[in-house]
Parts: sequence; C-alpha cells; structure tokens
Amino acid sequence: MSNSDLNEKMDSCPAAGHEVDLAGATLQDPEILARPNAFYWAMRHEDPVHYDPGLDMWLVSRYEDLQAVLADPITFSVEAGYKEQYAKGYIEDFKEILERDGGGFFPDAIMTDPPQHTRIRKLMEGAFTAHRVKQLEPEISKVVSGLIDKFADKGGADGVKDFAVPMTIEIICAQLGLDTFDPQEIQRWSLAITAQIGRMQDREQMVENAREICDLQNYLIAAIRERQENPRDDMLSDLVHARTEDEEHPTLTFKEVVSLARALLIAGNETTATALGNLLFILATQPDLAQELYDNVDDERYTTRFVEEILRLEPPVRGLSRMTTKEVELGGVTLPKGAHMLNLYASGNDDETVFECPRKFDMNRPNIGRHVAFGGGVHRCVGLALARMEVKVAAREFVKRLKDIKLEIPIEDIRYLPTIATRSIEHLPLSFSKR
Ligand code: HEM
Repeated sequence: MSNSDLNEKMDSCPAAGHEVDLAGATLQDPEILARPNAFYWAMRHEDPVHYDPGLDMWLVSRYEDLQAVLADPITFSVEAGYKEQYAKGYIEDFKEILERDGGGFFPDAIMTDPPQHTRIRKLMEGAFTAHRVKQLEPEISKVVSGLIDKFADKGGADGVKDFAVPMTIEIICAQLGLDTFDPQEIQRWSLAITAQIGRMQDREQMVENAREICDLQNYLIAAIRERQENPRDDMLSDLVHARTEDEEHPTLTFKEVVSLARALLIAGNETTATALGNLLFILATQPDLAQELYDNVDDERYTTRFVEEILRLEPPVRGLSRMTTKEVELGGVTLPKGAHMLNLYASGNDDETVFECPRKFDMNRPNIGRHVAFGGGVHRCVGLALARMEVKVAAREFVKRLKDIKLEIPIEDIRYLPTIATRSIEHLPLSFSKR
C-alpha cells in the first residue's frame, strides 16, 4: 500500500491522540505514560529509534526494528540491558540490603543471553507446554467462578483489586505449589520487583521495595528448602530437582532456583493481572463488544481471537530493555556499543504499516497473531499459553455471569502504575448486574 493510500485509510480510523513534540517529551512524563499512543506515533513517523534524554535510553518504536532486535539476542543483550536498568542508581545499596536480610542477591537466571539463557530456558519450557496448560482450564475456571461469586450479588467491584490481582496470584501460587500465601503481600512483592525495572523509584522507595523483596525471598527460600527434603507434584519441586542435558551443569544451582521461582511468581502475576484489567476495561467501555462476546462465548475460535486482539490493542508490557554489545545500525541510527534501549512492544503493536487501523479493536484482522505483546525470538514469553488461557477463561466467565458491565468513573480518571515497563490500571471501579 502506498503512503497516500495508507494516510487516506488512516483518516477513518480512531486517532492515536493529541500531537506530541518529541523534542520536549520523555516517556517518564506521567501524562505520556498514561496516554502514550500519540508519543509512539510521533516516534514511528519522525524518529523511530529515538533517544529519550529523561531516561537516557534509546526507544525502539517501529515493528520492523523491534523484529531486528529480537532476531539478534547477542548484539542486543537482555543481560546487559537488565543489569543497567535494575535498581538503577541504587544497585550497590540494593544488593547490600538483600545480602544482609534477604538470604542473598540472586541475579535473574532467565535474564541472560545465549548460551546461558538456552540452558535455563529449556528447563522452564518443560513446565509451560500448551498441553499442560490446557489441562489447567477446569482449575482456572473454578478460581474465576469463585472470585466472581464473591461480588456478583453486590452489583459492583474493583476489577483490579477484587478480580485481576487475586485471580492471577491464586493461579500461579497453585502452579508453584505455594499453598499458604497472603495475596496482598504477594501483590506488594510483585510491585516491589517491577519497580526495579520501572525507573521511577527514588532512594526511599528503593529501600522500602528492597525490604519487601527480602520478605519474598525468605518466603521462597523456606519453600524451596522444604522441597529439597520432600519433593511434591508442583513446579517448585520441578525446579529444585530439574536435570538438564548440559553435562557440566546438570542441575540448577540454589541461586538459580530462587531466582527462577521469584521470576515465575512475579512475571506470572503482574503482567497477567494487567491483561485482565485491560480486558475488563474494554468490556466496560464497549458494551456492543461485551454483548458480541456473550453471543459467541462458547465458540473457541472466537474467544481465542478476542483475547489476541485485546493483547494487541492494550499490551500489558509496554517495553523491556536491551543493551548493545557492539556498535550497530538500527532504523537508520548508529547506536554505539553500550547503548541502553527500550523495546517498545506497545508501539510495535500500534504500527500502522503492519496493523491497519491500529487503535481499532478488530478481531477480523488477517494478521492478528503477529502482535508483539509477548515479545519474540529466544526471549518470547515462556508463560504465554498460561497467560492466554487465564484471559480467555476470565473473559468467558465474566460475560456469562454478569451483564451491563459499566465503568464507574470517567475514563480520564483512570490511573496507571508509575512504570515504563508495563501499562497497568491501578483501580477499575465497575458496576454490573447478575445474569
Ligand atoms: C498477558 C500476560 C503476559 C504478558 C503480556 C507477558 C509478556 C512478556 C514479554 C513481552 C516477554 C519478553 C521479554 C523480553 O523481550 O525481554 C516475556 C518474557 C517472559 N515471561 Fe511473560 N508475559 C505474560 C505472562 C507471563 C506468565 C503467566 C509467566 C509465567 C508464569 C511469564 C513468564 C515470563 C518469563 C519467565 C519470561 C522471560 C523469558 C525469557 O527471557 O526467555 N509471563 N513476557
């Protein structure tokens, strides 16, 4: 399609938002974080690999350039990017607190580059096959129904606090085999971990978050020690007793087990809870769509595409970092070695050269599966089958049991968590009636 054809088509599509002057803008701006699409649009059109001076990061905004980054995990290193970003500005103090009070500092074993990453990744994939996840569907449905039952008669609830967060926590804890847990505590731990890559915490907040992470680690270490003695049929035992084909390192080290358990607990709930919040937001603000979903709720093909389009339109993960290990050209820009980058998956999903009318919810788009909500390449989300299943079951059960779902505050009053890594609704007051 030529540019003028594309522009003409775009005229009839929902707009990305008000115009943004890139020169004075930074992704750290809470207004831009909350309503980022016009900023993404400006980057893709004017400066696709844009240096953000506020963040001191290069923002990768076009689908095509994101694919180039994802295809080369050695030049664009997760490990170096993550290290650069983690507890930015406070890493030494942060480490000290964890070593003193949290059983140790355990670098993320999955946030590495091949070949180390390949060994760890193989181990994790075993736990998340689509087949295994399919078997979880009845259990997930039970959790979802139980939560909806708690508020169905009340006529209202907070979609995030009363549903999305407890649902994902309950499911991932059941998978890991963590049977005694306090959902609110786990939610606090999740926020404390995500704050380490969110680039928005000050020193006081870092200390507070580090304390939470100490509690998280002590909790996991106790459970891991228990599994060392008495293995059970759960994911934590699988990690403790896992064997790899790697002759030199056939088992996971204790540090690796702690870091992977922590990664699964956190990655598995913050992101999915965000996806569920987005799902409920869309159901509450697009009643025709909620009705259409209800009419097709038992059609597996329909619900699958519905979930994919939610993930494309409102991707929970906004952006994750990389660092160049050598000088490299990307999107017409020469990046030096050591350039800290942010892969803006949310902007990739919004790229009109790939997704026609990108701000429109359209589950009939022919390339629905090309979105990058789960990243791509060797680091593509390992939990995506579980995540998709959770969103699908939640969508199905919500519309089956509740109708007239409405947002109880004006859309402009919705607040998002202050982080560049995800775009997560903080509170979602809803009203509804029982079917
Ligand atoms: C809708 C929910 C989810 C979204 C949108 C999401 C998104 C992502 C994205 C974008 C990445 C790529 C990271 C990168 O490029 O650096 C990723 C990786 C990962 N995700 Fe998810 N995720 C979700 C749910 C889950 C769940 C449920 C789990 C596990 C229980 C999980 C575990 C992981 C792990 C361990 C990685 C790292 C994989 C690697 O580096 O090899 N995620 N996820």
